[in-house]
Amino acid sequence: MFTPRPIGFVSSPYKISREIPKGFGVKHEAEGSLEILPEFELGLTDIEGFSHLIVLWEFDRSGNFELIGTPPTDDRPHGVFATRSPRRPNPIGLTVVEFQRRDGPTLYVRGVDMLDRTPILDIKPYLSNVPAEKLRRGWMTEAESRKSQMS
Ligand SMILES: C[S@@+](CC[C@H](N)C(=O)[O-])C[C@H]1O[C@@H](n2cnc3c(N)ncnc32)[C@H](O)[C@@H]1O
Repeated sequence: MFTPRPIGFVSSPYKISREIPKGFGVKHEAEGSLEILPEFELGLTDIEGFSHLIVLWEFDRSGNFELIGTPPTDDRPHGVFATRSPRRPNPIGLTVVEFQRRDGPTLYVRGVDMLDRTPILDIKPYLSNVPAEKLRRGWMTEAESRKSQMS
């Protein structure tokens, strides 16, 4: 296995976890930037044309993993690989952000849900190819309808 190393760091308005919006239907609209280290800047060549980017990053402040946990969006437990929990065996986060503009090694983006100074592992262009009608949302659909019945 390779040893991961950061290609850069997220600059985010969120300094602590509870500042980050959570729950169903929550829209992540916070603006931030991806500050890429000088030795990797050449790798940003031709990135300007993409509207959205996939950012892979490290949950560097998440503690030990748990294989079963209850997410903030439900009152029932689920397996870690059926959730987006920060407490995973390999603490890798994935966020799709809207790409606004580039200034040298800095990518300005909207939609960050990472804490400030989160290490970035990789960036890839986002190419959506799953038609909405084919997408199934597993336990989330059921939990959403339970919540809406309660309110
Ligand atoms: C539910 S996770 C989803 C993250 C990502 N969109 C994903 O799907 O992998 C988002 C939560 O991760 C936590 N978080 C964000 N940055 C973190 C970091 N650097 N270390 C540990 N936890 C972090 C915050 O509590 C945030 O609300």
